[in-house]
Amino acid sequence: MSRRPFIAGNWKMHKGPAEADALAEVLKRALTGQGSVDVAVAPPFLSVPAVVARLKHSGVHVAAQNLHWEQQGAFTGEISGEMLRQAGVTYCIVGHSERRALFGDTDAVVEKKVHACFRAGLLPIVCVGETLDERESGQAEAVVRRQLAAALGKLTADQLPSVTLAYEPVWAIGTGRTASPAQAQEMHATIREWLAERYPPFVPRGMRILYGGSVKGSNAAGLLSQPDIDGALVGGAALVSEDFLAIVAAAR
Ligand code: 13P
Repeated sequence: MSRRPFIAGNWKMHKGPAEADALAEVLKRALTGQGSVDVAVAPPFLSVPAVVARLKHSGVHVAAQNLHWEQQGAFTGEISGEMLRQAGVTYCIVGHSERRALFGDTDAVVEKKVHACFRAGLLPIVCVGETLDERESGQAEAVVRRQLAAALGKLTADQLPSVTLAYEPVWAIGTGRTASPAQAQEMHATIREWLAERYPPFVPRGMRILYGGSVKGSNAAGLLSQPDIDGALVGGAALVSEDFLAIVAAAR
């Protein structure tokens, strides 16, 4: 079974509504009607409505970068999955390393957020990945396995195909230091093995695992040619239309 490539752009805290709309317009012109790659962009919350409106009927999906695990309530400054769904969001990134490192998203929080995505009808993009210290001390695999168990452990086999995984080694994010295709493939194969040890074969075969960390037009093809790399979660290069479109082109 071949998995459809998926390229997602995480705009992080860049692009207010007007700038986001302008970038979305260029993407819409370039990508409407292209059928071979799934594409999503994740603008900051405030820019979501403009981007959803602009990308309507383009086939490009809109993702959120985070959500709160409750549907509503006294949670000042937070946004729920239900609100995102109402706003036209399809996917939601959960457990990004910046959330884990800077905003206290522990494994337990990540698990709650994954379940909140299911309650709201959003498709989670669950991020895992080790720090440089963890890699250098030989713990990379153990860390990723622990993160997978926490995030996915209570989901049923039938729920898992709605989840996209993203392996984002922390040392490769925003550093220009991409994992080599072989390094990335090795961890992607480990992730698929983890799934195969626990679930029926349709789960590891069907689930998409994206690579993230300094993906650019120039290194995308090498990464995407690996058997277990099904797409990319792109940060910096997603902010410039030509760069992002070059990565989408490499996935075709
Ligand atoms: P960069 O592509 O800027 O390294 O960011 C990757 C990332 O964190 C995507 O979520």
